Amino acid sequence: MKISVIGCGYLGAVHAATLASMGHNVLGIDVDPVKVEQLGQGAAPFHEPGLDELLQDGQAKGRLRFSTDPADAKGAQVHFLCVGTPQDKTSDAADLTFLVSAAEALLPHLAAGAVVVGKSTVPVGTVDMLRGVLAARPDVLLGWNPEFLRQGTAVKDSLVPDRLVYGVDGGRAAAFNPSSGGPLGVTAALDAVYEPLLRAGIPRLVCNFATAELIKSAANAYLATKISFINAVAELCDASGADISELSEAMGLDPRIGSRYLHAGLGFGGGCLPKDIRSFRAQAAGHGVTAVEDWMQLVDSVNLGQRSRTVALAEELCGGSLAGRSITVLGASFKPETDDIRDSPALDVADRLAAAGAHVTVTDPKAVNHAWRRYPRLRFEASILRALEGAELVLLLTEWDEYRDFSPAVAAALVRRPVVLDARNALDAAAWQGEGWTVRGLGTRHGGTQPVSGTSPVSGMRPASATYR
Ligand code: UGA
Repeated sequence: MKISVIGCGYLGAVHAATLASMGHNVLGIDVDPVKVEQLGQGAAPFHEPGLDELLQDGQAKGRLRFSTDPADAKGAQVHFLCVGTPQDKTSDAADLTFLVSAAEALLPHLAAGAVVVGKSTVPVGTVDMLRGVLAARPDVLLGWNPEFLRQGTAVKDSLVPDRLVYGVDGGRAAAFNPSSGGPLGVTAALDAVYEPLLRAGIPRLVCNFATAELIKSAANAYLATKISFINAVAELCDASGADISELSEAMGLDPRIGSRYLHAGLGFGGGCLPKDIRSFRAQAAGHGVTAVEDWMQLVDSVNLGQRSRTVALAEELCGGSLAGRSITVLGASFKPETDDIRDSPALDVADRLAAAGAHVTVTDPKAVNHAWRRYPRLRFEASILRALEGAELVLLLTEWDEYRDFSPAVAAALVRRPVVLDARNALDAAAWQGEGWTVRGLGTRHGGTQPVSGTSPVSGMRPASATYR
C-alpha cells in the first residue's frame, strides 16, 4: 500500500520504518529538515535500538522515503498522524496544535476516499474535533489507531505488538456491519496495512472513537498507577524495615498482579507517562469524574515525591548538607536504552542537588549530548571512569546495563568515599558492599536503611529485621 506518516519523531519514524519492513511504500513527512535529512541517510536522530537498520533496509529496497513537503503525500491511500501531543504550557491538558496543523497541511493533498488515521496519544473527543478540520472533505475516512510502543524497545513493540486497536466511526457494530459503508472502509484499510501482524495472530479490537482514545490514556494511567503504588509501598518499607525488592518480587509472582511496572525506584518520567496522566486528569475533570481526577493527582504526586525523597536521602548521606560536595550521577536519560531526556527524573534530581550547592557530574552512555546544553549547572562527562573520580557520593539514577555491570572494585578505587545511593534498586548490593561500599536504596534494607530492632509495632510479628531470604 502507499502510506504516508506525518510526524517523524519517536513514534512516527519507527512506525514508518516498520511499515516499510512489512512491504508497504512509505513516505515519512516532518517539518524539521534536519530530522528528514538524517532519516533519509538511514540514521535516526535519536537512539532507538534496531531503528537505523530498518531505516537503511527500507531505503535500500526503495520502500521508504522522507520529505518536508506534505504535497508529497499525494496519492497515499492511508495517512498516519504521528505528531507529538505535549503537555500544554499553561495547563495539564494535551496541546493538540501539532495535530491540527498536520491535518490542515495534509488536507489539500488527500486523494478521494483517502483514510486518515491518528496514532498520537490524545484526549477523548479529539477525533470529533479533527472531523471539523477535515469537514471540507466528507469523502475522507477517519480512524484512530493508538500506539503502545515503548522507547528503547520500539521496533520490537511495533513488529510484535500486544494488540491492535482500531477506533472507527460508530464502533464495533458498524465495523462488522457490511451495509454500513464508511467505517468498514477504515477497518479494511487498517487490516490491509497490518496484514502480516494479523496473520501472525496479533489480537485486533475494533471500537468507537472515544473508546480508542481512552484505551491509550487508561493504559498509560494504569502503568503509572502500578509504579506509583509500589513506590508508595517502598516508603512504607523504609518506615517499617521491610524490603521492597523482596516484596514486589513476591507480589509479582501472583499472575493476577504480574511483576512488570512493579519495580520501585525513582519513578517514571519521559515524554509519555507524566504528561499523559496529567492529560487524563484534565479529561476526567472536564467530564466531572472526580475519582479519576483525584487518582491521577495522587499517582503524579507520589511519583514526583520519589525525586524529593532521593534528594533528601542524598543530603542525609552527605551528612546533612549538599553544599560543596562532589556527587556523581549515573544516568541522564529518563530510562535505559534511550537518549530521550524529556522529563528525566535523573536530570531533575541532579539539577536539584546542584541547586543545593553540590558539584554534580553526570554521565550517561547516550544522552550527554542532548543534556549538557539544557543543564548549565551540571558538569557532563562521557566517560564513567572520569565521572567517578573524586566522588563523595554516587547516585544511580538511570539503570543502564553499563552501570548495573560496572565493577564496584574499579569504582571504589576512583571515588573519594564509597557511598552509593541506588535510586533504581538495580545494583547487586552484596557485591558492592563486598568491595567496601555503603549502599542505600529506596525501600530496600541493604546496608544502611533504618535499622529496625526490638519488637515490631504490630503485635505478634517478628521484628522486621529478621530476614526471610
Ligand atoms: C510508555 C508506555 O509504556 C507505552 O506503552 C506507551 O506507548 C508510551 O508510554 C507512549 O505513550 O507512547 P515509555 O514512555 O517509552 O512508554 O516508557 P516506559 O518503558 O513505560 O517507562 C516509563 C517510565 O517508568 C520510565 O521512566 C521508567 O524508568 C519507569 N518505570 C517503569 C519504573 O519506574 N518502574 C517500572 O517498574 C517500570
